[in-house]
Amino acid sequence: MSNLDSLDKIVSLSKARGFIFQSSEIYGGLSAVYDYGPLGVELKRNIRNAWWKEMTQRHDNIVGLDAAIFMHPKVWEASGHVGGFNDPMIDDKQSKKRYRADMLIEQYILKLEKDGKKDKAAEIQELLDTTGTRKSLTEDLYDIIIENEIKAPESGAFDWTEVRQFNLMFKTAFGATASEDDAVYLRPETAQGIFVNYKNVLDTSRVSVPFGIAQTGKAFRNEVVARQFVFRMREFEQMEMQYFVEPGTDEAAYDEWMTKRIAWHKKIGIREENLRFAPHPADKLAHYARAAADVQYHFPIGWQEVEGIHNRSDFDLTQHQEFSGKKLDYFDQKNNKRYTPFVIETSIGLDRCTLMVLCDAYREEEVDGDKRVVLKMHPELAPIQVGVFPLIKKPELQNIAHKIANDLREDFSVQYDETGSIGKRYRRLDEAGTPFCLTVDFDTIEKDDQVTIRYRDDMSQIRIPIEKIGDAVKDGIKDWKAE
Ligand code: GAP
Repeated sequence: MSNLDSLDKIVSLSKARGFIFQSSEIYGGLSAVYDYGPLGVELKRNIRNAWWKEMTQRHDNIVGLDAAIFMHPKVWEASGHVGGFNDPMIDDKQSKKRYRADMLIEQYILKLEKDGKKDKAAEIQELLDTTGTRKSLTEDLYDIIIENEIKAPESGAFDWTEVRQFNLMFKTAFGATASEDDAVYLRPETAQGIFVNYKNVLDTSRVSVPFGIAQTGKAFRNEVVARQFVFRMREFEQMEMQYFVEPGTDEAAYDEWMTKRIAWHKKIGIREENLRFAPHPADKLAHYARAAADVQYHFPIGWQEVEGIHNRSDFDLTQHQEFSGKKLDYFDQKNNKRYTPFVIETSIGLDRCTLMVLCDAYREEEVDGDKRVVLKMHPELAPIQVGVFPLIKKPELQNIAHKIANDLREDFSVQYDETGSIGKRYRRLDEAGTPFCLTVDFDTIEKDDQVTIRYRDDMSQIRIPIEKIGDAVKDGIKDWKAE
């Protein structure tokens, strides 16, 4: 697990240090929407860059795309989101709280199992697994809740509304004289921008199947259960890649991408013991998926999905072909055959990934009787990589420290800091996750042209010549290991 028993410490640190703020906080905040502060924006950008480099720069058959958030409304009919992107919800009339009906039942089953009522749990699980086969899906869920007298977790009441389907897409009007006919949606995933541009990319780039298209960008979902900080938001960012393959090679490509993606999580410094795969059972697959697995992280709120890897078969291209009337198949010139490619998708939430990095990096240590809070994140991701301090505010030390900071800025993110004791400055940058701090002291100017470099993780300090600082920082980044 991460070193935390709840998300509270991450929420407090994020606010106190300028990683993440509640949106519109001075007006009381907007639920499940967050803003990234000076440190957060850098951390998020570094994660996005690490993903982009991995997916595009390191693969000569993956190209990038930046599709618009607004898309033709037919896209969402074709993708199945208008008809199928729903959650079955039920309201507790007393507390006015809304719950996902299936999750409510799942929680009840878990409680029965915990209480040793295994037979009853299995019986309800069987009913849950077969919802939609007796009456409609919503009616079957309602019946399970009522027949088992499942109570609202928070109020304890047994006073439910019907179960209703709730579409997760945000709808808005397009154009100055917009009517209901001009309704558009804020995209609930970036993937569809890739599918509708598949032909454009194929016709204009030097790619052939198998090839991938990568994209990062905002997505919007009117999540009903939107809690747990940036874990589940209504506006969030996704990093998605669709890999187009010949049918029949899809299973091998799916396995290959699972291996590659878990390797990336380790590469950005996430500890192996906090990562695992969770394949989706065949009866729980999303409407588009032939196979799916989550990369899960052991958050303080339990094992949760950070990334999904999906075999989407030819579902999306076939649907868009049908709805648009445009041919979206592929002609394999070498083998003289025509087919609609299958798609392997890797889809990770950038905000959720940022939360994972913060949770995995967070440590509380005791140092000389004091508590040290430190973010031991990969130096490549650190919002500030190098802190530069003059020991005290004396011009001869300040001038050299400024010069060192300016020289380093070309290659690293740097913060110059001269306020407070050196110990306080270290602590501030420990909390920001800064892996290297350099101090200019009187020996620097009087004796040896050297500075002290202090390493965040073990707090060790050594003297290094000024002209070797760049190399020392580069080596520190290269040699860093998660502990
Ligand atoms: N194109 C496939 C797709 O969107 P998904 O499993 O619904 O699949 C992929 O979403 C990833 O997007 C998730 O693994 C998660 O990291 C992130 N994500 C989804 N909904 C989110 C939300 N409401 N808030 C933050 N991140 C979210």
